[in-house]
Amino acid sequence: MQPQHSTVLMVADAPERIENVRQAMDCSRGAIELLWGTFELRVCNCLADATKLLEGRLYDVVLLDPTLGVRDGVDSLDSLLIASPHSAVVVLVSEHEDGAALDALRRGAQDYLMLEEIHGRMLSRTLRGAIERKSTELRIAESRAELIWRLAKAAEYRDNETGNHVIRVGCYAREIGIAMGLDRKEIETLFLAAPLHDIGKISIPDAILQKPGPLDAEEMRTMQQHCVIGAKILGDSAEAEQFPYTRRVVSSGCLGQYDDPVRTVAQRIAMSHHERWDGTGYPGRLTGDQIPLEARIVAICDVFDALLSPRPYKEAFTLEMSLDIVREGRGTHFDPAVFDAFERSLPALIEIRDDLKDVRNHEREKELLHGAHSS
Ligand SMILES: [Fe+2]
Ligand SMILES: [Fe+2]
Repeated sequence: MQPQHSTVLMVADAPERIENVRQAMDCSRGAIELLWGTFELRVCNCLADATKLLEGRLYDVVLLDPTLGVRDGVDSLDSLLIASPHSAVVVLVSEHEDGAALDALRRGAQDYLMLEEIHGRMLSRTLRGAIERKSTELRIAESRAELIWRLAKAAEYRDNETGNHVIRVGCYAREIGIAMGLDRKEIETLFLAAPLHDIGKISIPDAILQKPGPLDAEEMRTMQQHCVIGAKILGDSAEAEQFPYTRRVVSSGCLGQYDDPVRTVAQRIAMSHHERWDGTGYPGRLTGDQIPLEARIVAICDVFDALLSPRPYKEAFTLEMSLDIVREGRGTHFDPAVFDAFERSLPALIEIRDDLKDVRNHEREKELLHGAHSS
């Protein structure tokens, strides 16, 4: 088997901690290399530089001194977990900081290293184990995200079979969540839950969903039902318990037991993404903080993307026109704090919009036609 080569970014500013790791790395050359592979170490002693480095390159491991940034009130662990979701984060702690080690594991670090015990073999084994655990975790997370996206796209397929609207809404919501200072778990949950906002459209008749003109009052009432139906599809735990087989599999330990907030957040979003800050929305005519924060975030993402996209009843608006309309909604349609975070995130949102463009129908038809001719 080929020894693996792995990249490690150490983020620490205490010289003795850096020296400890450097020495252990030097010891890990030679015989240990054959067992555990090689490690390339880069040291960075400031959080801002680390974030920049992580933007430019994927590191297998981020080795973090979690006390970095504490003086400035910055949570360095959370910042790095967000900046580098694909790296295994390992924290460096001292013997008297074992509370910090447990806290870091609970919050998403893969492992910890006791500074007083660091030596080459242990260092390389810990790093290799962390990389393996992270890659398993990523595989599970990716397959879960893919299932959620496919489910969300199943509803979107009814009226826009080539669109990426639901995926874009998830990506925008993530950016706004970051700009609002939500914690990493909340941001991840929002990212996964937001694409399911229109899942209830699965139950709306084609004649309404694809109607080219404006809806009459009765059709509008039916269309508005998609919120309540979506929330019902995403259900509550009491409903899940009606599936005895599923419950048996889960409780046998095959799927593990953990508290997953994605479904409950998705349910809140499905129910309330058409509520408006001033209480004129639907279905509950909720106002202000009565509307769950996640739904307030998705509301602005959904409107922004819908304005930029063609719909059966309208052409796509330009970016300028769309932004004018969204800006008019500050404090009436949209929560002012969410709107301000939207403004701060705008460059990232525009980039997402460009990266995840819809494949228009005529292009798709050309592709299909080309496929049919060449087969
Ligand atoms: Fe909707
Ligand atoms: Fe939508």
